[in-house]
Amino acid sequence: MCGIVAYIGKKEAFPIVMKGLQRLEYRGYDSAGVAILNGDLNVYKKKGKVKDLLQFAKDKKVNGSLGMGHTRWATHGKPNDVNAHPQQSGDGRLALIHNGIIENYASIKEALIKIGHTFESETDTEVLVHLIDEVQRQDNLPIEEAVRVALTKVIGAYAIVVIDKKDPNKIVAARKGSPLVIGLGEDEFFMASDATPLIEYTQKVVYLNDEEIAVVNRSGDLQIKTIDNKIQSPFIEELNLKLERFEKGDFDSFMLKEIYEQPKTIADCMRGRMSAAEGWVKVGGIEASYERIINARRFIIAACGTSWHAGLIAEYLFEELARISVEVEYASELRYRNPIIDENDVIIALSQSGETADTLAALELAKNKKALIYGVVNVVGSSIARMTDSGSYIHAGPEIGVASTKAFTGQVTLLTLMAIHLGYAKGTIPRSYYLQLLDELENIPKKVEKILEKNSHIKYIAQEIKDATNALYLGRGYNFPVALEGALKLKEISYIHAEGYPAAEMKHGPIALIDENMPVIVIATNKSAYEKIASNVQEVKARKGKIIAIVNEGDQEIRKIADYCIEIPYTDEPLTPLLSVIPLQLLSYHIAIMRDCNVDQPRNLAKSVTVE
Ligand code: AGP
Ligand code: GLU
Repeated sequence: MCGIVAYIGKKEAFPIVMKGLQRLEYRGYDSAGVAILNGDLNVYKKKGKVKDLLQFAKDKKVNGSLGMGHTRWATHGKPNDVNAHPQQSGDGRLALIHNGIIENYASIKEALIKIGHTFESETDTEVLVHLIDEVQRQDNLPIEEAVRVALTKVIGAYAIVVIDKKDPNKIVAARKGSPLVIGLGEDEFFMASDATPLIEYTQKVVYLNDEEIAVVNRSGDLQIKTIDNKIQSPFIEELNLKLERFEKGDFDSFMLKEIYEQPKTIADCMRGRMSAAEGWVKVGGIEASYERIINARRFIIAACGTSWHAGLIAEYLFEELARISVEVEYASELRYRNPIIDENDVIIALSQSGETADTLAALELAKNKKALIYGVVNVVGSSIARMTDSGSYIHAGPEIGVASTKAFTGQVTLLTLMAIHLGYAKGTIPRSYYLQLLDELENIPKKVEKILEKNSHIKYIAQEIKDATNALYLGRGYNFPVALEGALKLKEISYIHAEGYPAAEMKHGPIALIDENMPVIVIATNKSAYEKIASNVQEVKARKGKIIAIVNEGDQEIRKIADYCIEIPYTDEPLTPLLSVIPLQLLSYHIAIMRDCNVDQPRNLAKSVTVE
């Protein structure tokens, strides 16, 4: 939801911090700011992107070997210069950057105003730095102790970094509910919201846990303690992330790069988990908790956004292949109900970032109700990955584009493997079909390649519908969640209003929307319901809707009715989403580019929603 970077050591901090902010900008980009300590505490911050901050700070005093920076996704106070982070104490002695929400900021602010504090910004964050300042003055505490005591009074989520001008040889950090990772160098430390800015300097990291405070200094000391003052020994992990995976390479955008990475990332997700030739599939996370998973009363899938769409596909997969009852829940809804969950349930959290606040909270709730918690996550070492009883990484590599593409197909691939694994273990799919599915699954990456070769045809169609103000996406069965996902892609990067519907649902109201100005994208690859979806296409045609049909290669019927057709290779119905989503990703990408939208950093969005 925002990006945090900090450095202390022997090098110049400014270039390290600014480069780190550029790498984290996908996490939030309403405003950016930096604080550099070199005797003075120099704070520069601006509404807008990191490049705007660079422009603003280029002729300022920025030398110093201790610094921190922040890219903001506003929750309290509009995006402007004053509300940008770092936020400072009244006398400017402390500077603080924050990812999260201080829920009880209003009552704290009221109490501080009563004793004379004045505030410049509308943010919740500024209240926290004033509180730390007040605690430090009242009890004459070192900054790390003042932070710890202040945080005992705070309700909410935070990842913070604090600099004290009067204590120029240390940086203090703390987290609860928002991520923070510490990179360990030679007598130098790096801090960031995720590992992206660290890996060009170090692969040795410590992931701070919830309610922990870290203090680092120039002589290479790292001390961690809990909010309730217990010393923790740092758990140092070795990353093996390659820098080029965080770069665009030859592509114009991360999103396009990540769309084109999918043949590889789908194959990477399958690697070591199946062999069609030898006829086996083995999802490690299932093996680790086999009895509870195979005997589960039901699976409850908790997720948000695109991950929720992957969950809807999983519902079809688990029910059809493994005859397991599935409920798919918006994590944000599940966490606030009082759902009936117990030790007989398995909760599967789907999350690319592994940091989505609503999904994390839903898992906490399920954990308290004794359910088995299974995570399907992309970011290694993320909060969700570390809190689950069992789980699987999708191995899609860093997904920088805010609009999720390769993570979606990675999630669906993993969930497909799980459904086949469980279906065969339970005897709900015969060995012949099991082998057929494995064989077909192994062919999916090549079939995705074939679809990517239709990019220029898809771009032509994008040109035809780029000026629409609304769009409808229709699908049946496995393709219904794909219709939802296609609509979300279009909405979030081109800002065209789009809705996904079960194709049969059109006649219950939405068909009133159809006219010659309404592009209708119909995913019509289903073998089982082909005639029915063909009728749905006729219904749209009869009302002059502009039809873009995703069909199987060789389709003869729907291609005669549709205005435009995108042919994709045939595959077994349970594997369809891995193919039918690809044209929709490219279609939304091209439309957004033609509308001069920023596909990697769409307005109002952030890559990881670590606040409620
Ligand atoms: C997808 O394109 C969006 N960026 C968004 O809906 C995203 O899927 C959602 O915020 C969930 O994120 P997660 O998978 O990291 O939990
Ligand atoms: N709640 C803080 C603010 O609105 C931090 C938001 C964020 O995580 O970027 O400034």
